[in-house]
Amino acid sequence: MKFFVDTADVADIAELAATGLLDGVTTNPSLIHKSGRPFLAVVKEICGIVDGPVSAEVVATDYENMLREADIVRKLADNVCVKLPLTMDGLKACRKLTSEGTMVNVTLCFSATQALLAAKAGATFISPFVGRHDDVGFNGMDLIEDIRLIYDNYDFTTEILVASVRHPVHVLEAAKIGADVMTAPPAVMRALAKHPLTDRGLEQFLADWAKTGETIG
Ligand code: E4P
Repeated sequence: MKFFVDTADVADIAELAATGLLDGVTTNPSLIHKSGRPFLAVVKEICGIVDGPVSAEVVATDYENMLREADIVRKLADNVCVKLPLTMDGLKACRKLTSEGTMVNVTLCFSATQALLAAKAGATFISPFVGRHDDVGFNGMDLIEDIRLIYDNYDFTTEILVASVRHPVHVLEAAKIGADVMTAPPAVMRALAKHPLTDRGLEQFLADWAKTGETIG
């Protein structure tokens, strides 16, 4: 399972990339706003920090202008992945861009039939939003299961990128289903490594080690 981080904060991205556990980055207009930095500059900087795909979202809603914006974004770096909304114009732009060899992440997916369309449009990634799905009383993981089944039925190569991840259990469930990728905020990424028994065990080992009076090396 690939791990992407969902942020435009370069300090967080650099810290997580240094662990060797980060496979890519996703951003969206809200995260760019939160970063307080100019869109193109921050995306370019992120692309220099990680080798994997960096999703950068266009804001046009019509086909022609989506392509115009995508053309600016994809020139930033080889690892840019153009993010397009799951609309008919977005799907049409997805088909065009992927046929030209540009990576595309189709975002704001809330149904399995939308995901089916994205795969038929040649999307590199489909982003079903599990947290927002849960928020309105549906089970986001049912959606991931359905998409996995459909993609496997037809050998679609579009990767399922579980988005809107809110906590480690989302990551656990997505991994059990066999999602290809998950994208989570930095705090959730760090929470994956935490366990109170690990902390307690380490504290005990270090206390006992100190009593030996030894040092290593
Ligand atoms: C994914 O690419 C989106 O940026 C993101 O996961 C949305 O998450 P949210 O619902 O927590 O805003």
